[in-house]
Amino acid sequence: MTVFDLARVYDAGLLASVDYHEQLGSTSDRALELAARGETPLPLLVLTERQTAGRGRGTNRWWTNDGALTLSLALEAPPDRLPPSRWPQVALVAGLAVAETLQSLVPAAELRVKWPNDVFLAGSKIAGILSESVPGWRDRLVVGIGVNVNNRGQELGVRRQEAAGRREAVALVEHDGVMRELTTVLLAVLDQFDLRWRQLIDGGFREIAAIYRNRCLLTGSTIAIDQPGGHRIVGLARGIDDEGALLLATETGLTRIVAGSVVSWEK
Ligand code: BTN
Repeated sequence: MTVFDLARVYDAGLLASVDYHEQLGSTSDRALELAARGETPLPLLVLTERQTAGRGRGTNRWWTNDGALTLSLALEAPPDRLPPSRWPQVALVAGLAVAETLQSLVPAAELRVKWPNDVFLAGSKIAGILSESVPGWRDRLVVGIGVNVNNRGQELGVRRQEAAGRREAVALVEHDGVMRELTTVLLAVLDQFDLRWRQLIDGGFREIAAIYRNRCLLTGSTIAIDQPGGHRIVGLARGIDDEGALLLATETGLTRIVAGSVVSWEK
């Protein structure tokens, strides 16, 4: 028997298709495959209880065991309102939606987004987002979301990922000792993501940027970012602009960073 109540997931009315597996290599690989084939109605949710070959950004891995929330959404982005040049904003929107959802579950805790795609609870990583375009399509993308909910210790996908020893990862259950019903957490994430996704498509990113700024973990920190191509840039993070780029004050002035991986940050 699955830990997810799939009837509730269908009944929420947010999805056109649901593809559930007790165990799967990667929900994002499966979602990319189905979305590329073009036969499955979107939005599609791919969901699993155990992910054995999950991918994070770059070369990171994200394996999760029982108790984690591991899902991918395949979505259609209307090119006139959300062209591929703006797709990096989708990862920011997803991270924000996850942070807002978790905030509603642990109201007293500090939930932050670490540009571009991580969610932090009280200084530790609790969730990660991976946004990818679907090969062969100019209007389809897959958003992978991993949240540590009831999975502890060695089962934390992010703890494995951060084995290099930067910051510890955490699960909701480690924060407050409460085991949660995964379907309820899943539906809350889907609901909040749906709200922000519609806002992005209908009204653009500017309003969302203002909300994101209030949760931006990096603002005020000295950070180092590895940019695509391998160039490392160091500076003082000044939050994000209205397009979602990270603003970095460096020796040569204010620089807009549109893509990259934050490798260190210190207040
Ligand atoms: C990161 O922090 O680098 C992003 C991690 C994203 C992990 C999720 S789990 C569901 C989906 N399937 C994957 O293979 N990866 C994403």
